[in-house]
Amino acid sequence: MNLLNKRPENMERITTKALADAFIAEQVREIRAQVGEGKVLLALSGGVDSSVVAALLIKAIGKQLTCVHVNHGLMRKGESEQVIEVFGKELDANLVYVDASDRFLDLLAGVSEPEKKRKIIGGEFIKVFDEEASKLEGISFLAQGTIYPDILESDGVKAHHNVGGLPEDMEFELVEPVRLLYKDEVRVVGEALGLPHAMVYRQPFPGPGLGVRCLGAITRDRLHALREADAILREEFDKNGLAGKVWQYFIAVPDFKSVGVKNGKRYEGWPAIIRAVNTTDAMSATIKEIPYALLHHITNRITTEVEGINRVLLDLTPKPVGTIEWE
Ligand code: XMP
Repeated sequence: MNLLNKRPENMERITTKALADAFIAEQVREIRAQVGEGKVLLALSGGVDSSVVAALLIKAIGKQLTCVHVNHGLMRKGESEQVIEVFGKELDANLVYVDASDRFLDLLAGVSEPEKKRKIIGGEFIKVFDEEASKLEGISFLAQGTIYPDILESDGVKAHHNVGGLPEDMEFELVEPVRLLYKDEVRVVGEALGLPHAMVYRQPFPGPGLGVRCLGAITRDRLHALREADAILREEFDKNGLAGKVWQYFIAVPDFKSVGVKNGKRYEGWPAIIRAVNTTDAMSATIKEIPYALLHHITNRITTEVEGINRVLLDLTPKPVGTIEWE
C-alpha cells in the first residue's frame, strides 16, 4: 500500500486496525527516510490531527521530535493536562509546554469584536510558537496535521479557522504524514497508535477555543464559569450516551447578567447557553433533541455548582439561520 504517490480518490480507505497498522508501518519508513538524523518541530494543540501526527512521529523518530503545546488560556477543562499526561509522560516525548494564558487574556481584555478576538488569538499563537521555535537549535523540519479536506478547502476559508496556521517565512521542510487522509481515517490510525479514545474521538473544537464562547469582551471570572459549565455538560453527555450521538455540544456565556435568587439572597449571574447540534460538514446543522429530564439535571448542576451562573438556556436554532458558534 504505497499511499504517498496516490490520490485519495484511488486509495483504499483506512477503515480497519489492520489497514491502519499497514499505514503506520509505511509512514514510519517514509518519515525516517525523509528526516534522517534531522530534528522536527510540531505545534501540538491536543486536537485529533496534531495528536495523531505527534504519535506517528514519536514512533518513527522518538526524541528527534519536539512538540510545543501552547496553552492560550482558552482550552477546555483538563485539555492541556491531558496533552502533558499522554505525550509528556506516557509517550515520553520531548514536550515543551508553554502556559501563555496571561499573555492572551491580557491582550484580549476589553476586546469585544469577534473577528478582532480571533485575529488577536491567531496572531499571538504564532508569536509564542515562533519564540519557542527560535529557542530550539538545529530544527530543520516542521510537522503539521494537515488532512486531505484541508488541502481541498485551501481556498482561504480555513485560514482564519486554523489558529495553528504558522508563519510562511519559517524555513522548514514540511512533514505531513496524514495529508491524504480524511478525518475518520485519522481517528482509526490514532486508535491503532494507542491514543486514548477520548482524544481520538473528541468533538471538533475551534482554534480560538473558549474565546469565541465567552461572548463579547472576555473576563477571567466569566471564562472560568464557562469552562466549568462546559465540563459539566460534557460529563453529562458522556454519562448519558449522548457524546457519540451529538456532533458538537458546548456552552456559550454572554456578557450580561440577570437577577436571580441563590441561597435565599438576590444573585445576579450570567446565563449559560447550551448548544448541541448535528451535522455532517458543519455547513448546515440540525438540533439534537435532548431528553427533558437530562436538561433539568444539567440545569440544576450548572446553577448550583458554577459560581456566577444563575440560568441555563437551550439554543434551538438550526444552521442556517444560526451559525454553530455564537461568534
Ligand atoms: P460556524 O460557527 O461557522 O462553525 O457554524 C462551523 C464549524 O467550524 C468551527 N469554527 C471554528 N474552527 N476556528 C476554528 O478552528 C474558528 O475560528 C472557528 N469558528 C467556528 C465550529 O466550532 C464548527 O465546528
